[in-house]
Order: sequence, then C-alpha cells, then structure tokens
Amino acid sequence: MSEESAAALIARLGLELHPEGGWFKRIYTSDAIVETAHGPRARVTSIHYLLTIGEPRGCLHRNRSDILHYLQGGGPVEYLLLDDAGELRRTVLGSAPDQALFLHVPGGVWKASQLIEGASHALVSEAVVPGFDFADHTFADRRLLDAHPEHRALLTPLVRP
Ligand code: GUN
Repeated sequence: MSEESAAALIARLGLELHPEGGWFKRIYTSDAIVETAHGPRARVTSIHYLLTIGEPRGCLHRNRSDILHYLQGGGPVEYLLLDDAGELRRTVLGSAPDQALFLHVPGGVWKASQLIEGASHALVSEAVVPGFDFADHTFADRRLLDAHPEHRALLTPLVRP
C-alpha cells in the first residue's frame, strides 16, 4: 500500500477532530431503527477514525454498544481495554504478522487507543452496533483511576484532562 500522508487523508476523507482525540467522519448510518433499553438507535453506524503524530491518542471512554475495529492503513496502534473485573487487555493493530487487523470491543468495556512510536498515522474504521449515540458514551475520569490504582500509571496519560 502506498503511504498517503496523514494531512492528505484528513483532507480526502473530510475528517474532523473527535472529542476523544484523533480525527473522524461518520461514513454510514443505517436507516433502520432498533429499540434499546436506553431509547431508539440506528441499527448500525460506522466511522473512519484516524490517529496522527499531532493527535496520537483516543482518550479512555466506554460505550454501551459493541464496536468493531478494522485497520485500513498505517499503524501500529495500541488499544488498551479495561473490563468491569479490572482486567486490562492490550491489542496492537498493525500490518506485521504478530499484529491484529481486527478488534472487537464489547459494549461497556473501557477503551483507549494510542499510536505506537514511529508510526506516522493509523486509519481505523469502526462499526458501532447498535448505532453510536453520545447518550451511550462516557469519558473516564479520576474515579476510574481511583478504582484501579494498579493501572494508574498506564491509564493516567489516557484519561481526558
Ligand atoms: N465513535 C464511534 N462512532 C462514532 C460516531 O458516529 N460519532 C462520534 N462522534 N463518535 C463515534
């Protein structure tokens, strides 16, 4: 794959800054509506999500929906996942044989992402099922760090100030 620069990708894909950090654009919203315990949602939504040297991380947050991640270009990018039991899992998306191209994050699991040193960018597509709604989304704050002091050093740079 020829490497398009991060700036060219932002322009070509029409990306905007995401409140989590990084760049994004909604690329698909299903017309179908599903009822959830928290109200009606699109059946599925999808975005392009880009991390760059200037916007190298997506801050720790969680969503009620399942999120499917597909690496489209660049990388490697590291994902840190923290579940309710306090178990921390690390997955690297990248094109090397020991790296993954796909990551499933179940609804309710905390997630942060960061570009690995040396990478110029990582372009990931996400499918959110049921579709994305900010009402289902929570940013982590100090309370999560207080609840998991064993992960404080790793997670503190990934919590939105
Ligand atoms: N994260 C995953 N999907 C979306 C989306 O559609 N909009 C926003 N703002 N963030 C997302």
